Amino acid sequence: MKLSNRTVLITGGTSGIGLGLAEAFLKSKSKVIVCGRNPEKLKVIKEKFPEFTVLPCDIGDASAREKLAADVLRRFPDIDILVNNAGIQRYIDLKKGYSALKAGDDEIAVNFTGLVDMTALFIEHLLQKQAAAIINVSSGLGFMPMPNTPVYSATKAAVHTYSLVLRQQLKGTPVKVIEIVPPMVDTDLNKAGRDANHIKFRGISLAEYIPTVLAGLEKDEDIIFHGDAGTVLTDPRGKSESRLLNPSW
Ligand SMILES: NC(=O)c1ccc[n+]([C@@H]2O[C@H](COP(=O)([O-])OP(=O)(O)OC[C@H]3O[C@@H](n4cnc5c(N)ncnc54)[C@H](OP(=O)(O)O)[C@@H]3O)[C@@H](O)[C@H]2O)c1
Repeated sequence: MKLSNRTVLITGGTSGIGLGLAEAFLKSKSKVIVCGRNPEKLKVIKEKFPEFTVLPCDIGDASAREKLAADVLRRFPDIDILVNNAGIQRYIDLKKGYSALKAGDDEIAVNFTGLVDMTALFIEHLLQKQAAAIINVSSGLGFMPMPNTPVYSATKAAVHTYSLVLRQQLKGTPVKVIEIVPPMVDTDLNKAGRDANHIKFRGISLAEYIPTVLAGLEKDEDIIFHGDAGTVLTDPRGKSESRLLNPSW
């Protein structure tokens, strides 16, 4: 797909992978709208990239995303790409029960319900375009779950499954469905959890990762893996199902 002269909304475009994509679209002369929760981050991004439209929104909140969609569709009728990128990750010890589960943000609401609802809020509009795209960011952990991120891994498996079905339903329409499957990338994702658990390896840099995504988009790949992750992660289900990443964590 072409990255130039598009109008793109990137959820969670204020840091990490979302910001990397926002910068790439801007460089290609596209109009970029980013949303995020943290007003301080939105302010800093607007100062750094005055061309961006920055909008506050908690993607995990139904009325907030409805308001965002209405606002974007009214102000930017040219929008032809939705990037469902916003995501959070938590380490959760399932043995600690309900209080541990509820001790932080709701990963299901942000990572999955938010993505499904955003897609539904934009789909009719995108279907009217000559060419449009929905880009969903899943994770390698959706294919090979990590025990200490149980809900996160499950939401990302859900994003993968949903993207497969969405692509099938949209076959023959102008809307392309792309799934980005990042490996571990050094961003702010679960930074507090990684710091508290003294996890030294933070993954590859954004500078190394973003070109993989851009190359995949330019080559019109349906699912964009990094390196040989595609072969490792897409083993027949029977084999990969019993496989966990870092089972001892
Ligand atoms: N980094 C990795 O190793 C890795 C690996 C696989 C997949 N991914 C996926 O890549 C995507 C981007 O993550 P990242 O690594 O770039 O992390 P990041 O640097 O923490 O960026 C996450 C972005 O999402 C936004 N966000 C989080 N919750 C939100 C909410 N409820 N509503 C609106 N915006 C929200 C954040 O803004 P605020 O701070 O304002 O909330 C931020 O802009 C996520 O879906 C993540 O699951 C990352």
